[in-house]
Amino acid sequence: MNTADQIWLNGEFVAWEDAKVHVLTHAIHYGTAVFEGIRAYETDRGTAIFRHRDHLDRLESSAKLYYMDMPFSKEHLRETTHELIVRNGFRSCYVRPLVWRGYGPMGLNPLENPVEAMLAVWEWAPYLGEEGKRNGVRGRVSSYRRISSDSLIPHSKASGQYLNSVLAKIESLKSGYDEGILLDDKGNVCEGTGENIFVVKEGVIYTPPQTAGILDGINRKSCIQIARDLGFDVVERDIARAELALSDEVFLTGTAAELTPLREIDDIEIGDGTPGPITRQIQQVFDDALHGRAAQYVEWLDLVPVPSRT
Ligand SMILES: Cc1ncc(COP(=O)(O)O)c(C=O)c1O
Repeated sequence: MNTADQIWLNGEFVAWEDAKVHVLTHAIHYGTAVFEGIRAYETDRGTAIFRHRDHLDRLESSAKLYYMDMPFSKEHLRETTHELIVRNGFRSCYVRPLVWRGYGPMGLNPLENPVEAMLAVWEWAPYLGEEGKRNGVRGRVSSYRRISSDSLIPHSKASGQYLNSVLAKIESLKSGYDEGILLDDKGNVCEGTGENIFVVKEGVIYTPPQTAGILDGINRKSCIQIARDLGFDVVERDIARAELALSDEVFLTGTAAELTPLREIDDIEIGDGTPGPITRQIQQVFDDALHGRAAQYVEWLDLVPVPSRT
């Protein structure tokens, strides 16, 4: 991870090494934080943040589901992110907003603890690697099930919930795979540790529905739209575990991983073991959309204004 010069913390720009919180911060003990993962890309028109407002909307929804009012408006966070990117001199970067319950009373009731916020940016390569994006990655079905709405809130991107993804990730890496695929509480395919999942069979694209306990991924939505615009049928329905191995193509989408094909599941090759033509086609248009090369999708980009030199 490449660090940056500055971070924005509770209304102030501070040096990277000075961005600190108290050790009795509620979120450190109980996971009471919500966050976003966003990317900014270099485009012909300058640096552009992909679906920035959609990410900030989801941040607010995640906070609401955990009884937190955002301490700064979404517009303030949006403009501050622009300034932070400019201050750090990045042309492309990852953007991490975090909203959390801060230092205050200890104990499980967080309602008296202050809600705090920070924004950080850094340069970050694709989560599953450039090589993985090109040639696909090897996945295993995790022994951990994805959190369900019986006990947590799959729709909220809340920090404490990520212990589920952390365990599945460690398990997949320690057993020699690149990524873990979690089933939902009913045993149907849910998603990767930080990505939504799509399966292609006989020209039709399938992806698990909202009710399967997925995170409502912004790149998932984007790829569904791109696929439909390309003329493909996209069906949101439950997917049985065996369908992964028996499909023609599988791919993962997420801000960190972008669009990464899956070439094997549980040591079984998917299709011929290389990324398939439909995956490739969607990946190309998606990559064009991220980098501002697709006129059809420019409304997804939030351009970072360049400050005038006076
Ligand atoms: C558990 C999980 N599922 C899916 C996704 C994909 O969501 P998005 O496309 O909005 O990045 C992410 C990443 O944020 C995630 O952490």
